[in-house]
Amino acid sequence: MLTKENNDRVTQTGPGTLGGDLLRRYWQPVALSVELKHDEPFAVRIMSEDLVLYRDEQGKPCLIGRRCPHRGVDLSYGRVEDGGLRCLYHGWLLSGDGRCLDQPGEGTASNYKDRIKHKAYPCKEAGGLILAYMGPGDPPNLPKFPFFLAPPERSWTTKIHHDCNYLQGNEGNVDPQHLSYLHRFLDPRQSVDERVNSLLIRDSAPKLEVEETGYGFRLFAARAAAEGEIYIRMSNFIMPNCSAFDGSPLVDPRTGKSRENLGYQMHWHVPIDDDTHWKYTILYGHEIPIDLNWIEKIVFADVDENYQLARNQGNRYQQNRQEMKTMSFAGMGQSFWAHDKFAVEAQGAIVDRSAEHLGTTDKPTMLMRRQLLQAIDAMEAGQDPLFVERDKAANALADMAVLSKVVPEGTDLLSGWWRDFRPKIGPIMEILE
Ligand code: FES
Ligand SMILES: [Fe+2]
Repeated sequence: MLTKENNDRVTQTGPGTLGGDLLRRYWQPVALSVELKHDEPFAVRIMSEDLVLYRDEQGKPCLIGRRCPHRGVDLSYGRVEDGGLRCLYHGWLLSGDGRCLDQPGEGTASNYKDRIKHKAYPCKEAGGLILAYMGPGDPPNLPKFPFFLAPPERSWTTKIHHDCNYLQGNEGNVDPQHLSYLHRFLDPRQSVDERVNSLLIRDSAPKLEVEETGYGFRLFAARAAAEGEIYIRMSNFIMPNCSAFDGSPLVDPRTGKSRENLGYQMHWHVPIDDDTHWKYTILYGHEIPIDLNWIEKIVFADVDENYQLARNQGNRYQQNRQEMKTMSFAGMGQSFWAHDKFAVEAQGAIVDRSAEHLGTTDKPTMLMRRQLLQAIDAMEAGQDPLFVERDKAANALADMAVLSKVVPEGTDLLSGWWRDFRPKIGPIMEILE
């Protein structure tokens, strides 16, 4: 549990809040690349700030305050021209770095425009995401995620709207025990991965170990498997609102079957405000292409053009009691994304963590909260919080791996066993400027 005060610290994300200040010390996704068309400025809300995103005439993303500094007109209606975004009302021209370049009504002799400083945040584009740094001072390095550098056929990115605080989604990613229930299929053949589903329901009390790292922590969940064997899922919490875990549904296109350790999946939970967030989902393949057709046509088929899931609170997630008798534990179809959306939204907009009764399987959740609170303390003491990297050679992620593997019983989870099985993940040391 958390005290009410600490719950507020880690769940409030607006400007000037401690949690919001912490999240702003890291690069955050603000849109998918495909959402931002040339010549079509795009209104975004992130961490309770209303902003407008547009591509400048060179195609580079720019993120500035949505309200015109003159008299507040919404700049997302504006024109991209003359090196900036021009407001439709009186023609003020704002640049991507927050300068006012033109005030037609003031006349050419006026230098009033030089005194205007509009809100503007630096942006980068990588891995199908547009990311912004909304914090103070110089931005840190962009994290060296391999998917940022993967060719398009080896990574796929989308997002799903969630009606709850970002931290609930974040916590769901470091909660391996729920895989044995929420995502359980009564008939394993209905599962995306029959073998893994069988392993997950065979032992619903996984042994958990956590190991703190330079990016957050590693999480090991071990379940009893066949005689003399255990099934381990190794996943990661990446500060402050991201996770990487076993990559189903990553499909081996050579066989058409889902396979372990070909890559991994990431969830990145970015607040829209304190009660809603975008869950960015990234699927990444280390070496071979992922099956984009299968993902788009089947796995994400019920996500609409506004990135809303068909199953939602309003229709009780289309829960089917008959299905609960024969097919799935939750009665909410096959999609893990729908199950997870249900679970974290059903906790309420912002869960009251002072009323919880945590158990042994909540150990990783407790560590996540502790790391976030410690990072806030570090920030308040004037230090960079965990995983804010500035040295160009720094890369805590070089020591990150995601594995799903059956190993001999008795394997010491914290012995570093996984290093022998770590897949080749290609070049990740390049710096994205
Ligand atoms: S309100 Fe934008 S130029 Fe006047
Ligand atoms: Fe889940």
